[in-house]
Amino acid sequence: MGSAVPALLRLALALLSLTPTALGTVTIYATQAVFTPTSTPGASYTGVAAYNPGTLVPPPLPTPAVLTNPIPVNLQNSGTPGLGVKQKGSFLGFSIEMSVTNQVLGKNSTLLQVPFLNLMANIVQRAGSVMVRVGGNTQESAHLVPVGDILNGRVLSKNLTGVTGTTQTPPLDFTPDLLYMMRNISELVNVHWFLGIPWFVTQPFDLGIVPAATEILGDYLLGMQAGNEPDMYNLHGHRPATYGPYDYGGEIHDFLTQLDAANGDPTGRAKTLLIAPNIADFDWTPEQVWDTNLVDTYNANLAYLAVEKYPRDNCAATFGGPGANVTDPQSVLPLYLTHDAHTQLLAPYLNSTLYAQGKGKPFLMFETNTASCGGFLGISDAFAATLWGLDYALQMAHSNFSGAMFHLGGQNVFYNPFTSPPTNESTFHQWSVGSLYYSALVMAEAIGPSNTTQVLNYGVDNLSSFTPIYGIYENGTPVRVAIVNYLDDPSGTSDVHAVIAIAGGTIPSSVQVKYLAASSVTQKGNYTWAGQTFGGFFESDGRPMGTENITTVACDTTAQTCTVVVPAPGFALVFLNNGASTAATAGAPTQTYATTAKTKMRNTATVDPAVLSTSNGFRASDHDLAGTSKPPSAAPRTAQASFGAAGLVVATVVAVLARAL
Ligand SMILES: *[C@@H]1O[C@H](CO)[C@@H](O)[C@H](O)[C@H]1NC(C)=O
Ligand SMILES: *[C@@H]1O[C@H](CO)[C@@H](O)[C@H](O)[C@H]1NC(C)=O
Ligand SMILES: *[C@@H]1O[C@H](CO)[C@@H](O)[C@H](O)[C@H]1NC(C)=O
Ligand SMILES: *[C@@H]1O[C@H](CO)[C@@H](O)[C@H](O)[C@H]1NC(C)=O
Ligand SMILES: *[C@@H]1O[C@H](CO)[C@@H](O)[C@H](O)[C@H]1NC(C)=O
Ligand SMILES: *[C@@H]1O[C@H](CO)[C@@H](O)[C@H](O)[C@H]1NC(C)=O
Ligand SMILES: *[C@@H]1O[C@H](CO)[C@@H](O)[C@H](O)[C@H]1NC(C)=O
Ligand SMILES: *[C@@H]1O[C@H](CO)[C@@H](O)[C@H](O)[C@H]1NC(C)=O
Ligand SMILES: *[C@@H]1O[C@H](CO)[C@@H](O)[C@H](O)[C@H]1NC(C)=O
Ligand SMILES: *[C@@H]1O[C@H](CO)[C@@H](O)[C@H](O)[C@H]1NC(C)=O
Ligand SMILES: *[C@@H]1O[C@H](CO)[C@@H](O)[C@H](O)[C@H]1NC(C)=O
Repeated sequence: MGSAVPALLRLALALLSLTPTALGTVTIYATQAVFTPTSTPGASYTGVAAYNPGTLVPPPLPTPAVLTNPIPVNLQNSGTPGLGVKQKGSFLGFSIEMSVTNQVLGKNSTLLQVPFLNLMANIVQRAGSVMVRVGGNTQESAHLVPVGDILNGRVLSKNLTGVTGTTQTPPLDFTPDLLYMMRNISELVNVHWFLGIPWFVTQPFDLGIVPAATEILGDYLLGMQAGNEPDMYNLHGHRPATYGPYDYGGEIHDFLTQLDAANGDPTGRAKTLLIAPNIADFDWTPEQVWDTNLVDTYNANLAYLAVEKYPRDNCAATFGGPGANVTDPQSVLPLYLTHDAHTQLLAPYLNSTLYAQGKGKPFLMFETNTASCGGFLGISDAFAATLWGLDYALQMAHSNFSGAMFHLGGQNVFYNPFTSPPTNESTFHQWSVGSLYYSALVMAEAIGPSNTTQVLNYGVDNLSSFTPIYGIYENGTPVRVAIVNYLDDPSGTSDVHAVIAIAGGTIPSSVQVKYLAASSVTQKGNYTWAGQTFGGFFESDGRPMGTENITTVACDTTAQTCTVVVPAPGFALVFLNNGASTAATAGAPTQTYATTAKTKMRNTATVDPAVLSTSNGFRASDHDLAGTSKPPSAAPRTAQASFGAAGLVVATVVAVLARAL
């Protein structure tokens, strides 16, 4: 270990390496009733969703054929119209359901998950920092308790005391050590956090997390959500039918008043970190909230404006019960392979992102993914989702969002950007890196660390929805070009030939290109970014594997064009080599943490799920353990409950130990 390694890091690694062999806590999950394609490897699969090998069939090519060769990309060196807000490399972050943080972040402040550190370090190295939201529906009843109230060094537990019926999410007890764990992570890799204020009960608010988070996380705390999806509170019985945006604004007033009365914000910083309205676009439109004058009223208190949106849901499969109309993933696969899906999803927010700019507030897509209720088999966990996530993120950047977070839950969902293995398998299994992690990694590199980056969806005459192209600018000058090819055609006929020219600038003699590649849109795992991969299921310690492969493309200096070929399917990031970060510097080695998986025989004892379901586990039946948005209709919580009771799977926490590099 070099002397450049900060003392804190040395201390941390020493502490980690001294820590006793991993111990586990126990968590309960509902298995997911999935639509299983009959002619695929998934047909006989009975395990949890996160490792389902089932695949779909790539959709046919469009007829007539669409424009692919040549596609003119006529950039201009300066004065490009329509450039929007300046972006940070941390644009794409992660949203972790609060109740699974003890599987993903670590067991506690002294036992951190090393693969998580590595996965974050990869992004920090490209972007400068990474945004992680800890929250979701389980934040709404999270209650801070003293360390001694939860045994065995754990940071979380479900408190089922007093929970009646099936419609109440059991309160989540957590200790300050959860916050110390987050702080310790930030000291190692530059993770910045979002948290949520419990908002179900407002008289009085449960304020505990506010002073604790501000004090422990300090500047690593970016913001705190004032409620999560308040426009769904009525649906789930947390507010009366009359509850509307004005009432929500009144609750922010009550919160601030109570915080003052409790002297809960001695430095005054917490009161400047609120995030609102976090609506799911279910019952209220953003405009209805803006029209209450909430943003002006709480101008000094609001750090961000935010919404949450999933393009569709897979709730019938998860919670629908007998007779539910379960969506066949094959039928919706094409909807994830077209740029139009993103423009349609984002169109209702363009007015709001302009409004936010006018108010000087960054606008976030606080929680999103391929589909709520866990995503779709064969889509959310396939290369299709990687391209979809990247195009979505670039289009959000173009649309003046300032960031977005992909949600992840436990073992029972398809859409996780990354998943820790069940603890009974952690001696021989590593983590599984999912499709959307690659999107985030590539997005970090596409935007880069300059803080001056602007993204423009590039207009080309007759361009189809299958081959979106973006110009990426720093200080108004094009520095990179991002090209997506959603087509799936191994013959090579549908490869995109993008002919890049820069009016008012000089084309270099060559450009460097990094490819995001897979053999088809339905491939699962083993995608490569510039030749490196995180493997398939259970194959990653969070560090890219393989040798980086940067392609040099010679340009035509006479014609002043560079022609870049993008396979079908695939994505290319073209570095124009004009003084901005080069392909090589963008991919410089990352500070990473080696792992040593220790024997965990003690964790392999079988446990009766029925006992655990009422002890220290939590019940997926009370929903959203899966980290999903709530069902879009009154998809019955009773159905969720009865389903959850029907099939329980035990997963234990993996605590992987680090050894100094
Ligand atoms: C993490 O936080 C604890 C506080 O509980 C502190 O004592 C410890 O030194 C920190 N560990 C590391 C690895 O920084
Ligand atoms: C983004 O904001 C800029 C103003 O900063 C505006 O010109 C542009 O039209 C906006 N883009 C979209 C897609 O709304
Ligand atoms: C974390 O868990 C380990 C193993 O159970 C325990 O030895 C350690 O004391 C715990 N750390 C804290 C800060 O509670
Ligand atoms: C658990 O919940 C009950 C009922 O809300 C409450 O009285 C009790 O204090 C809680 N226990 C802990 C450890 O927070
Ligand atoms: C845009 O939002 C503003 C503020 O809420 C509203 O007054 C206006 O009507 C909206 N425009 C559209 C086209 O929705
Ligand atoms: C499923 O779809 C059919 C046909 O549209 C409809 O009649 C039926 O009510 C639906 N079932 C459920 C549970 O929604
Ligand atoms: C781990 O536990 C799960 C759930 O009980 C089970 O399906 C799986 O087979 C177990 N793995 C091993 C290696 O025992
Ligand atoms: C970008 O902004 C962050 C704060 O959000 C700052 O820490 C960082 O130093 C800035 N990077 C550059 C290159 O200015
Ligand atoms: C776009 O397509 C139309 C109809 O096929 C054609 O006439 C026109 O020349 C095309 N424009 C470009 C720039 O290729
Ligand atoms: C990924 O590639 C490795 C090595 O080629 C192989 O063993 C593994 O099965 C592949 N995983 C998937 C999910 O295809
Ligand atoms: C590097 O990537 C290029 C473009 O995909 C490919 O043609 C070449 O074979 C790769 N080289 C190696 C060593 O993998």
